Amino acid sequence: MKISIIGTGYVGLIVGLCFADFGNDVICVDSDKSKIKLLNEGNCPLYEMGAEELLRKNLYNKKISFTNDMKAAVENSEIIFIAVGTPEEDDGDANLSSFYKAIIDVCQYVNSNKVVVNKSTVPIGTAKAVRKLIDSELIRLKIDYKVDVVSNPEFLREGRAINDFLNPDRIILGSDSKRAIEALMNLYKVYKRSNKPIIITDSETAETIKYASNAFLATKITFINEIAELCEKTGANVLEVAKAMGQDGRISPKFLHPGPGYGGSCFPKDTKAIVKTAEKFDVDLSIINSVIRSNERQKRRCAVKVKNEITEGTLAILGISFKPDTDDIRESPALSIIDELYAEQKYCFKIYDPQAMAEGKRYFKDYINLSWHDNAYDAVQDSDAILIITEWNEFRSLDIEKLRLSMRGKTLFDFRNIFPKDDVEKNGLLYIGTGV
Ligand code: UDX
Repeated sequence: MKISIIGTGYVGLIVGLCFADFGNDVICVDSDKSKIKLLNEGNCPLYEMGAEELLRKNLYNKKISFTNDMKAAVENSEIIFIAVGTPEEDDGDANLSSFYKAIIDVCQYVNSNKVVVNKSTVPIGTAKAVRKLIDSELIRLKIDYKVDVVSNPEFLREGRAINDFLNPDRIILGSDSKRAIEALMNLYKVYKRSNKPIIITDSETAETIKYASNAFLATKITFINEIAELCEKTGANVLEVAKAMGQDGRISPKFLHPGPGYGGSCFPKDTKAIVKTAEKFDVDLSIINSVIRSNERQKRRCAVKVKNEITEGTLAILGISFKPDTDDIRESPALSIIDELYAEQKYCFKIYDPQAMAEGKRYFKDYINLSWHDNAYDAVQDSDAILIITEWNEFRSLDIEKLRLSMRGKTLFDFRNIFPKDDVEKNGLLYIGTGV
């Protein structure tokens, strides 16, 4: 099928690459000219496992192209995905200005019946508003074609996005248009063979599924983080608690890993946005509200643990991305922890991250007493304490004895619990984890 994707951010790019790989003809549109140039040359602007290979393969096969030309993209597509960013405003609401601009731009170039698909995470009720906006634009422009709207939220996880796209737990299609649902069913027919459930519903339900899923997962993480805090006080071990809880099929072991708090481009933004939407309908989402507060507290608690143990000195920071296998540092707990400690003006920071150093250098560009290192051992050299904030796999194989010999102090803050406490203590280091 001929499709275009408006917005080559994380979701837009991965979805475009995967649809192209399924044999569709995909045109990706973005207003950022340098990004388009980079992509057309086969260079992926973000770090995501397998993305660059898919990009090069599908450019070579002429199944995907990148352009600033919205007109050509819309005119040559039956299905148009909107995947632009919906960043968080100061009050927690989603900013939809780029989203609505994309819809208005698309309307100008409608030259046949089309289907517009919302891939961006948008507040509940947006698809209905889009429907009205498109109708009024088509009347204003005197365009006599049908443009139907579908909500098709995306559940990709960074670092696993291609695998998630190829193996979705479910596909959600929300629309009142039979024609639009048929077009999307045709596009997603590749999943028929693997029996992936396709849930067809109305647009408000589809939009709510996305927010409710993310808010639930954020709640699960926050729940285990609070239990971890309790374990620290009582002497229980949260890892054993989480494992035993997870063995209950009703609970499941997924998203029960305690840590420094959730981050990233989705959970922090989406939890706030659903609370904002609920407020407009006079509904108090008190659980999600306290999850948001508790997650902030969890990040602060990590900084306090450091302050209580190390009053001043050099801290080796291992990992600043919000999770492993990505260079994304958006809302990463590492940023809050470093910021909180930096404000004390008593610490120097030696930082290493396998992929996120370029992003980190941009974020911390005005900071002093902060240095960047090529590997974990260099960062740890002469430090008073080590803070493991992201659970990159390469940190799991670090030689603890070698770390101890090269550092000045003796404390390892393992906020992701990647090392067994006993192993670290056997090597003469003080171990401070999360809930262990
Ligand atoms: C999430 C959703 O999983 C995905 O479905 C949605 O489309 C986008 O948001 P992502 O943000 O890429 O994906 O990462 P995810 O793996 O969900 O982790 C989010 C945050 O939670 C990370 O900071 C991670 O470290 C943290 N986390 C996750 C925990 O602290 N403990 C866990 O058990 C799981």
